[in-house]
Amino acid sequence: MPILSRIVRSSVTFLLATPLCAAELPDPLATATGQVVTSAQAWQQQVRPRTLQLFREQVYGVRPVAKPAVSQARVVREDPQALDGTATLKEIEITFAGPNGSVRIHPVLLIPNAAIAPAPTFLLFGFTKPDPLAEPNIKGAWPVRQLLARGFATVAFEVSEVDPDRADGFGDGVRAVFGKQPRPADAWGALSAWGWAASRIMDYLETDHAIDATRVAVIGHSRCGKAALWCAAEDQRFSYVISNNSGCGGAALARTKKGERVADITSHFPYWFCENYQKYRNREDDLPVDQHQLLGLIAPRLLYVASATQDDWADGRSEFESCVRASPVYALFAKTGLPSTTLPPPDQALLDGSIGYHMRTGPHALTISDWQHFMDFAAKHWKP
Ligand code: GCU
Repeated sequence: MPILSRIVRSSVTFLLATPLCAAELPDPLATATGQVVTSAQAWQQQVRPRTLQLFREQVYGVRPVAKPAVSQARVVREDPQALDGTATLKEIEITFAGPNGSVRIHPVLLIPNAAIAPAPTFLLFGFTKPDPLAEPNIKGAWPVRQLLARGFATVAFEVSEVDPDRADGFGDGVRAVFGKQPRPADAWGALSAWGWAASRIMDYLETDHAIDATRVAVIGHSRCGKAALWCAAEDQRFSYVISNNSGCGGAALARTKKGERVADITSHFPYWFCENYQKYRNREDDLPVDQHQLLGLIAPRLLYVASATQDDWADGRSEFESCVRASPVYALFAKTGLPSTTLPPPDQALLDGSIGYHMRTGPHALTISDWQHFMDFAAKHWKP
């Protein structure tokens, strides 16, 4: 983009970002012909399927298979007295077989031994191999003991086991198992493949009597936050989704966000998305959808978006505005989405609506304090 128009554009972006809700964004309630629906039923029938399809074709890619004919899950190791007897640990192996071979993943599930009823569960998209004994680290904390102490079960998997998190990973993951060459421009990217695997873990959870499958949350940080949002848009069995610092291609608005833009993300991480997404480099205004509509696809289920004050690359202010702009979809279901249109002070969580939000003081990270808010939100809204 020429320098002058870049300057004009960024000052426009700044002005638009200051009073919330001033930018021209697609209406999350509009049908293909621009008609604004006024009922949840009309939205479900006329808006949701089209919005989902546009995200598939232009952003995250189309999945070649819903549930594979051959998908086997088995518990390969069980320890009923894990973590000083507080939990039952199950190491699960799930095999996905398709026309071009197979891939195995190894999620780790912990169920609180104190539970007297099927447990609500947090499913974490992990950057590394799940290790419940590891001290929660700053990149993608998994505070297993805190979750168990509050009565939650939790399961984590390593996204790279599903599909490697690298540009040339296509041939080694689940996308190769089901994909065809040459890959169409709307073929699924790695974010969608990771979310698809979370759905296969959900298939297993539905068979485990210790788990309340009506209360399973997907949670991810950063790239995994993008994947968690898309996962829950595709799979409505998840009743709660948490996006932590997901930014560009996640909760933040493509059109007006600061920091990372479509041109940046598609240069560094083209394989996260479908190839079509690259058409919108420096042309975000041409996108047929924007990310508040992705948040709208979660409605009427629980959604939590968390930002951080020093995370300019993700742009927390834009993530907040996106939640504001998604809230009319919740209103159709007679629910309050975000309970405020004013950005709350740092570290103050908005927990009263069906969309939760906070802006944590500090850098891009998933911390224990973020998790405390996510658990508080669950305890408040997630009734058996
Ligand atoms: C990069 C990328 C972000 C992403 C982040 C992460 O910073 O630009 O979009 O969220 O990596 O996943 O850690």
